[in-house]
Amino acid sequence: MGILLQGGYVVDPVQGTVQIADVLIEGNVISRIGHALSTTGHAVRDLRDLYVLPGLIDVHVHLREPGFTNKETIETGTHAAAAGGFSRVCSMPNTSPVTDDPEIVRYIVTEAKRHGYATVHPIAAVTKGSKGEQVTNFRALHDAGAVAFSDDGRGVQSAAMMKEALLQAKTLCVPIAVHAEDELLSGHGVMHEGDVSRALGVQGIPTEAESVMIARDLLLAKATGAHVHICHVSPETAVHAIREAKRQGIHVTAEVAPHHLLLTDQAVKTLGAHAKVNPPLRSEADRTACVQGFLDGTLDIIATDHAPHTQEEKAQTIDKASNGFVGLEISFPLLYTTFVQSGLLTLAQLVMRMSSLPAQLFNLPGGRLQEGGQADLTVIDPYTTRVVNPRLFHSKGRATPFHGKSLVGWPLITYHAGHLVHDIF
Ligand code: DOR
Repeated sequence: MGILLQGGYVVDPVQGTVQIADVLIEGNVISRIGHALSTTGHAVRDLRDLYVLPGLIDVHVHLREPGFTNKETIETGTHAAAAGGFSRVCSMPNTSPVTDDPEIVRYIVTEAKRHGYATVHPIAAVTKGSKGEQVTNFRALHDAGAVAFSDDGRGVQSAAMMKEALLQAKTLCVPIAVHAEDELLSGHGVMHEGDVSRALGVQGIPTEAESVMIARDLLLAKATGAHVHICHVSPETAVHAIREAKRQGIHVTAEVAPHHLLLTDQAVKTLGAHAKVNPPLRSEADRTACVQGFLDGTLDIIATDHAPHTQEEKAQTIDKASNGFVGLEISFPLLYTTFVQSGLLTLAQLVMRMSSLPAQLFNLPGGRLQEGGQADLTVIDPYTTRVVNPRLFHSKGRATPFHGKSLVGWPLITYHAGHLVHDIF
């Protein structure tokens, strides 16, 4: 007996089409997509007026395990992913111990499988302990399941180390996901350096702390021919540099986080540490450049940088609080409301930037609904307005600068490998 998802608008992000169709799930695969499929012997769900998408894919999340289970676990983080419509996520290696050992990579993959909410593709550390001193064993980590390398949370400070890492990554045909930050330039900054930081009297992080490292890594990508993927781009100068590098044919891709598209450093005035993130929320000119870069494809994909912390860690003053906030459970409605409802992007275009393109850039399966493919899919309600309520999150993290925002485009149902993992329909 299968599950027949009947009469929804089925979105194909690769073809750019939206068509009414039935989708039949049998076991863990999509066995048929077609019109007026026979209902005999199947459980039927009527999805009229709803959108059926391939499961979303997020290449930048922090699941905190092993080590920081007070902030998040693989179970709670993947549950949050399912609730946000994500079927695959890439986990960042700033765990404890750092994900620099094949055993840890295997643990993360297996633990995610055990819970079954979403597939986790670990990103392993570029350097041992992410200390920037010694490049890890890329081949062994890749063999264990790592799909990319990053010291996210910190920048790789040495250009020589980064060059060595890029050469290793190139032999494996995988990207280095760059957290671009010159630690001496960012110093003890706690928010974007600008009028707001000066008015609040707190130390700022200048845009150059990020953009000089991006410029360096674009040059190294050119020199090595390796794939550099720039994480959470925030300054206008970086958007211009990436656009120019692409024009020159350098193998660079980039992600932008929803908060850098929607918020500026002004949010720190009202939200304090709940708007503290690294890279920080920047100026209106930076935000506008990110939006432009996202719309013209310079910034290829959306990644949430889901970064859960405990309530105590976020309740501190801005200089002491941890960087980051959660994003998995609200990013699709945030972007649907901002870009699709307003007509800036079609639904298929947004879905491409949140499923098929991330899959392509990180060599992952998925990102498309097709017969014979794994049944990872998400059903979206384009009509009902709901308010962001962190008390309803499955993540252990509760901090979000979007608390109380009214949004449409919420995921109602998620199937992962044919299993129902989220259902609020
Ligand atoms: O805000 C952030 N939080 N930025 C990072 O680079 C790391 C992340 C975290 O791990 O909490």
